[in-house]
Amino acid sequence: MRTIGTCYYPEHWPEEIWAEDAARMAEAGLTWVRIGEFAWSRIEPEPGRYDWGWLDRAIDTLGAAGLKVVLGTPTATPPKWLVDRDPTMLAVDAEGRPRGFGSRRHYCFSHAGYLEDCRRITAALVDRYGRNRHIHAWQTDNEYGCHDTTLSYSDAARSAFRDWLSQRYQSPEALNRAWGNVFWSMEYRSFDEIDLPNLTVTEPNPSHVMAFRRFASAQVARFNRAQVEIIRKGSDAPILHNYMGRVLDFDHFDVGADLDIASWDSYPMGFLFDRLDASDAHRAAFMRQGDPDFQAFHHDLYRAVGRGRWWVMEQQPGPVNWAPWNPAPLPGMVRLWSWEAFAHGAEAVCYFRWRQAPFGQEQHHAGLLRPDSAEAPGLEEARQVAREIAALPEAGAGAAPVAIVFDYVSAWAWETQPQGQDFSYFRIVFSAYRALRRAGLSVDILPPDTGDLSAYALVLAPGLMALEEPLRGALATVGGLAILGPRANAKTPDMTIPLPLPPDLPGLPATVAAVESLPPEVAVPVAGGGNVRHWLEHLETEAPVALATEDDRPVLIGDGALRYLGGWPDGTLWDRIVAEAAEATGLETEALPEGLRIRDTAAHRFAFNFGGRSVIYRETHIPAAGVAWWER
Ligand code: GAL
Repeated sequence: MRTIGTCYYPEHWPEEIWAEDAARMAEAGLTWVRIGEFAWSRIEPEPGRYDWGWLDRAIDTLGAAGLKVVLGTPTATPPKWLVDRDPTMLAVDAEGRPRGFGSRRHYCFSHAGYLEDCRRITAALVDRYGRNRHIHAWQTDNEYGCHDTTLSYSDAARSAFRDWLSQRYQSPEALNRAWGNVFWSMEYRSFDEIDLPNLTVTEPNPSHVMAFRRFASAQVARFNRAQVEIIRKGSDAPILHNYMGRVLDFDHFDVGADLDIASWDSYPMGFLFDRLDASDAHRAAFMRQGDPDFQAFHHDLYRAVGRGRWWVMEQQPGPVNWAPWNPAPLPGMVRLWSWEAFAHGAEAVCYFRWRQAPFGQEQHHAGLLRPDSAEAPGLEEARQVAREIAALPEAGAGAAPVAIVFDYVSAWAWETQPQGQDFSYFRIVFSAYRALRRAGLSVDILPPDTGDLSAYALVLAPGLMALEEPLRGALATVGGLAILGPRANAKTPDMTIPLPLPPDLPGLPATVAAVESLPPEVAVPVAGGGNVRHWLEHLETEAPVALATEDDRPVLIGDGALRYLGGWPDGTLWDRIVAEAAEATGLETEALPEGLRIRDTAAHRFAFNFGGRSVIYRETHIPAAGVAWWER
């Protein structure tokens, strides 16, 4: 079932208006209402004194209107008394400064005392509401990693890191060997000598940084798991977390393994200005629509994180407050973004937030209602979506013919050692994704421990730092073609250069003899069209060369099912690579009108017009911000 919902903060509004709010939500066709995720200071105003009355009544009021409640644990906002009782629970930034009280997410994932408090408040909520008939799902915390909060350089983190290292390496000698600590006399005699990799004179050992990144990610998963274990004991409702756009600091596949549903918070126009490497022309063209691929990428990613079950927990309903500029969407975009999520398999799309708040940090963030409770433009579009989803039964996300492997660990690796300041794992993967979408292809994103690629005609895995089992073995199962690289298998898991030298791929005789990073103004032309930018490898190979630079350096090698790409293609070169792979494998691609994107589900083809003017596709006139669909 496709459904819609909203995010509501009963604690922000006089109790007298809750019933009318609930009735208006139901009238608009909303199914879900998420509450509670920042309400700790109202749930437990004093240590150990719980005030349930207001929350009981809020849940009853919403439930009585027919709404299903998603209840959030309030652990993203520890109240003042809790911080003052033990300020060592605060996260510490890389400069060694504690992160202050007065906004949110000020806690350290490694602090044992804070974790105990989180267990306690979660248990109290589950005791009270675990069997409540209006609670249909749980959300753990809110947006792990938001505001740069995955990494903390606190005393608590340091001692937890030492424990983690001693388990991973067993002896300081093994750690010294794995990290190459003989370099610059960095050897340790015991785990207790090891600090966090901040405040060093110049860059710390990349092996040290990578170990810290793996540790920090594991801390997030552990923190989340502590809540999940408690909720499961007292409730049968599914548990989800709301992830973010382009936040890669923890391994979402690990966190997702403990949850029932993945969800994410989609702010297309905020992302365009805040999180996307886009030219001024691109921003101008999509200022009121958002980037045509950024949301789709995350929809596909979180479908994988949720093992098929995923939601948009927060959907932008109008201008937001937090990007450098915050324009208003074109009329129709709220509907388009909602339908796009459904076309990628979302079970629910919830708008953030119900009513714009006249106080606090987000005063200029639109809601479905204005602060004076009049309707904001997004509400009518939500109503339309509600009518449309009732009329168009859902048929499943459908299997895509092409896939991209996505690996959080590789993102940390290339942040740790970019070797050229433009090298970003997200950017290169996203550039490949865009090319597939420009060719009209629907894409699956796969976790790095995928063991079977037989369903796919084409698999791309740019920037995969280490090729481990079972993926290594799965390359033999690929249904059509797999293209790895650049930087494939370029590091050991401890972040050193492996021997034999990369790429060391089964059946593909090649060696990366040297690598170069290139400043952004440099383009290395490839014979036949397109360029390599940012990153070029010097490949020694006996394999057939499919693409070479104009001065005859191999760029794409191999003619079998497994091929290797030794550079970062620009858009034109990606288009060629996709077109040639499609020809070799019989994949159907098509050239789409400017700004149009398509997505196939099991039953329908959807088309979304992100462009600023109307286009004709399949003899259908699709206006700017328009959506169309056909049975397949
Ligand atoms: C999200 C967050 C919400 C709200 C929203 C504003 O990142 O989960 O609580 O702050 O952004 O756009």
